[in-house]
Amino acid sequence: MLASAYRHHRTGGFATGASELPNIFRRWRILPTDLPMTMRENLFRPIHKGLRFMIYETGLRLGTTDFSNVVDSNEVMDRLRHDLSSASSSCMLCLLRVHADHEERDLFSAVRPFVPGVVDGLIAQHGEILRRIERVSQMCDELSGLTDSQRRVDLGDQLNAEVDSLFTFYLGHLTDEETQVVPVMWQRFTDEQLRALRAQFYNRIPIERFEEWMRWTIPALNLNELFVFLSGMKAEPTPNRFADAMRVAKATLDPSRWQAVESHVGRDFVSRPPVS
Ligand SMILES: [Fe+2]
Ligand SMILES: [Fe+2]
Repeated sequence: MLASAYRHHRTGGFATGASELPNIFRRWRILPTDLPMTMRENLFRPIHKGLRFMIYETGLRLGTTDFSNVVDSNEVMDRLRHDLSSASSSCMLCLLRVHADHEERDLFSAVRPFVPGVVDGLIAQHGEILRRIERVSQMCDELSGLTDSQRRVDLGDQLNAEVDSLFTFYLGHLTDEETQVVPVMWQRFTDEQLRALRAQFYNRIPIERFEEWMRWTIPALNLNELFVFLSGMKAEPTPNRFADAMRVAKATLDPSRWQAVESHVGRDFVSRPPVS
């Protein structure tokens, strides 16, 4: 695939003018790399695996909720919709919403010069996702105010269907981004450039939110992905979030996986003040 992407690059499949590149890349030459795909920097896959982990877990939790139990079911809905306001927050709908914002601001802008139609299509999907999130939030509001047991169970059934529909659409959207944007990034940018873009992306996120993303993302990765992801973060230009990611890895990975990561990626991840 990389060989054909390289030929496509050489034969002018996309515009290549340096003036079309975002500022951050203008000082670099654009070179393809011959690394296997699983060793290349993928700015979407790791965080998407974290989102899938969150979606699957939320689906199971919601699917097994007894909506006649006011206390238990309202707690589940609070986790779904409560706004991000503290380091321990894990509002599912909030994370889906801010992920779209982060992508549009920091990642789509980098590939828009090459595939504007693809980016417009994905932003349109973000709009549909936000509309579906709003519908789910409204149903949670309505359900939280109900006291009649049977009405709660009936509306809980409808809420499950609405969330299933949102997640189905969302999972398709994640796949679209990985199949339509990642190949363009690999074709147009070196891994060094992608790491610089990721460092800029993560440095703009408050440390509490970054850690929350990592608590979903890091446990969702296989060992090879952990090596590539964390080694790549270590190689990012400073300031970067490598030390913060390693702290989360140590706290969330089981001991054998953590030991493998630590010996492969390195031990020099001393704590430091968060980047503001
Ligand atoms: Fe997206
Ligand atoms: Fe995404």
